[in-house]
Amino acid sequence: MLTGRRVVLGVSGGVAAYKAAYLARRLTERGAEVRVVTTASARAFVGDQTFAAITGHRVVDRLFGVEGSVSPHTELGRWADVVVIAPATAATIARLAHGLSEDALTATVLASRAPLVVAPAMHTEMWEHPATRRNVRRLEEDGVRVVAPGEGPLAGGDVGVGRMAEPEEIVEVICEVLGEGPLQGVSVLVTAGGTREPIDPVRFLGNRSSGKMGHAIAEEALRRGARVVLVTAADLASSPGIERIQVETAAEMEQAVASVQPDVAILAAAVADFRPKAPAADKISRTSGPPSIELEATPDILAGVVGRTPRPLVVGFAAETGSLDRAVRKAQEKGVDLLVANDVTEPGAGFAVDTNRVTIIWPDGRSEPWPLMPKSAVAARLLDLVEGLLGARTETVSSPSDDPAHPGDGR
Ligand code: CTP
Repeated sequence: MLTGRRVVLGVSGGVAAYKAAYLARRLTERGAEVRVVTTASARAFVGDQTFAAITGHRVVDRLFGVEGSVSPHTELGRWADVVVIAPATAATIARLAHGLSEDALTATVLASRAPLVVAPAMHTEMWEHPATRRNVRRLEEDGVRVVAPGEGPLAGGDVGVGRMAEPEEIVEVICEVLGEGPLQGVSVLVTAGGTREPIDPVRFLGNRSSGKMGHAIAEEALRRGARVVLVTAADLASSPGIERIQVETAAEMEQAVASVQPDVAILAAAVADFRPKAPAADKISRTSGPPSIELEATPDILAGVVGRTPRPLVVGFAAETGSLDRAVRKAQEKGVDLLVANDVTEPGAGFAVDTNRVTIIWPDGRSEPWPLMPKSAVAARLLDLVEGLLGARTETVSSPSDDPAHPGDGR
């Protein structure tokens, strides 16, 4: 499956461009997110509208003047898990081999660290020309995966070698190149959003959490191949590959969390600490004057997860105002493996924005402030840390029996 994997599909100008539309369809059917970038000559064969309709995203066809993007090639290049050029003409292959970047397609390739898959399509003479042979060899030496063209009808009624590989074959190569994500086989629970505790059927006690950070973490974990359960109180979309449990109150969130036994629990939700003890069954009327509402503590969901056997790897969050001293204490006292703290009063780090400035705090008191970043980048960096901690855990668990000096119990 390609669920949540990000594919940049570059289309250059050849009659096989019509097959690129079919390839885009196959990729989206497998769950991939696809963004298409075209060259000017590709557009002579297939209209951008076709790709936009299949992928649900506008095609990038130029380097400058793209609506809503100042630097489309670097944005696409960084976004991609894999870049695929299909069809790749002789001219595009020549440009790629020489690192030229004068159009949106080749510039995206150069601006990406993602693996590159190239599916050539051209007339036999062009494919067999020494210059093309040399350019293809150079790409292969650079680590590019070239999906060799087959034999069959070519443009203009010709027949020979140079026909682009079938979309199904290209999809298989993409799956192979992407491999299994680093979190394949790992189950990740993420909580997100702010809970709402009813006062009466109309009113609630709530908080300003938008759920954006938690949702970004869930999406990133999915992209890395994890099985993701997202328990969310937020009204945000999530990818179909995520198992989502929608909740409203702390009690519902506790129940949903209790139903999952994950390897990793990332508790990003802003859970209400207090709730009205006896929510009114009917709307409280203003005529009876301001009510006094008795509050009680909500369950500490994080404490419940930390207390489990086996205990998952636990990442807690702490939204503070001002100093992070309290967060350092929480990291020590709550039994978490990591605490992500932020000062919500800082510009760009608070609720409902797409950026965050967090400090990672370890239970031994070490801390690392991260710069202001998009929440998606915070999610990626956090999951890098989680992967490291998971690796260390596996080593600790397996080392006694792996080490001949400390044999296991022999079972
Ligand atoms: N949390 C939880 N259940 C609660 C309250 C909080 O699971 N009832 C989790 C949050 O999801 C977060 C962590 O605990 O990961 C810390 O939340 P925070 O509100 O900062 O900590 P509190 O223990 O509530 O401390 P305080 O209210 O004193 O700041």
